[in-house]
Amino acid sequence: MRTPPLWDTLYCHANLATMMSSDDESFILNAAIAIKDGRIAWLGAMDDLPKTPQPLATTIIDAQQQWITPVLIDCHTHLVYGGHRAEEFAMKMQGCSYSDIAKAGGGIVSTVRATRAASEEELLAAALPRVKALMNEGVRIIEIKSGYGLDAATEKKLLRVAKQLQSHYPIQVQATFLGAHAVPAEFANDAEGYIDHLCQHMLPILAAEGLIDAVDGFCETIAFSRDQIKRVFDTATSLGLPVKLHAEQLSDQQGAELVAHYQGLSADHLEFVSEISIAAMAQAKTVAVLLPGAYYYLRETQLPPIAMLRHYQVPIALATDCNPGTSPICSLRLIMNMGCVLFKLTPAEVLLSVTKHAAQALGLQQDYGTLEVGKKAAMIVWKIKHPVELMYELGVIPEHTVLWDTQS
Ligand code: NIG
Ligand code: FE
Repeated sequence: MRTPPLWDTLYCHANLATMMSSDDESFILNAAIAIKDGRIAWLGAMDDLPKTPQPLATTIIDAQQQWITPVLIDCHTHLVYGGHRAEEFAMKMQGCSYSDIAKAGGGIVSTVRATRAASEEELLAAALPRVKALMNEGVRIIEIKSGYGLDAATEKKLLRVAKQLQSHYPIQVQATFLGAHAVPAEFANDAEGYIDHLCQHMLPILAAEGLIDAVDGFCETIAFSRDQIKRVFDTATSLGLPVKLHAEQLSDQQGAELVAHYQGLSADHLEFVSEISIAAMAQAKTVAVLLPGAYYYLRETQLPPIAMLRHYQVPIALATDCNPGTSPICSLRLIMNMGCVLFKLTPAEVLLSVTKHAAQALGLQQDYGTLEVGKKAAMIVWKIKHPVELMYELGVIPEHTVLWDTQS
């Protein structure tokens, strides 16, 4: 009697970027990787393949020295929104600051007006091409934040659209509630009242509907104070939801220290983060999500303290921050390039930042982010000679095949 093959699929003669570490040791050249039931069953050098008499796999593919990486992850976007803010872009180019525009009733609240006015179908239609653009580059896991509704009905509409994107494309969406993004017009000059409403009504209702995977906030002088964010985090924690924060984008509010205190998934932006907060993040294993697109569009000059983040071994992720105001960018490859050129990260750090560390920033590290036995076979076979090509040339996407199985 013949024994059945061990595995479903075996890729031979591949180069693997396992993303298990930040140096070339995470690469296995002339390797093989096996898949069984949608998960990685074996990986290693070709020479180490078990020698068994029976065929190893039902399907055997010669990868011809192509590179295999985990699928790319965009762990911070606001890509579901109504309208656009092209006029503000023009104003910014004339020298108006983000804070000035926000104080004059533009910025986030202008997108809130457009998002409230848009139907679910309109929001979906506007979001689909953004998702498609990310997918074309190999992104399959996308975090999408609400925060352009700022009332229960519109936040719900936004979160529903975010989740619906999964039935249009083979992607996984992590939906994050960002109710504490700005104070809506109904609560003008009453941020406290809005936070009461958010904690007592909006968040519990939306969480009960199963629409939320995590809770975010914007801790800044033009948004919410540390104490107000603390109340949002207390509510999230009581509902069993993980937290993250837009922190230290324009000034140091010690928001990153706060999110670390709640064992948060990530603190994002961080241009003005202090050493105390970084030490707290390292302790709590909170990921630093850096957003060079916003840095670029806002013509920031203060870089996030990369050397200190490295020193404390805080995992660094990069993301598009795709949004209509500070980062109208639907290209993770551009962001990876900016990670190298603007933020001076090494190409190896950048590759980790959109795989392993991005998965960790979403709490998905059990299944995604690295090529490891037991993880999902969510991988990409790239026709490239070296992984640096993924961030080196812009405008041309290297040929690739995505192996993506969300079912198993
Ligand atoms: O990540 N900083 C706050 N929120 C977004 C900007 C949103 C907007 O301006 O519409 C950000 O940069
Ligand atoms: Fe953001």
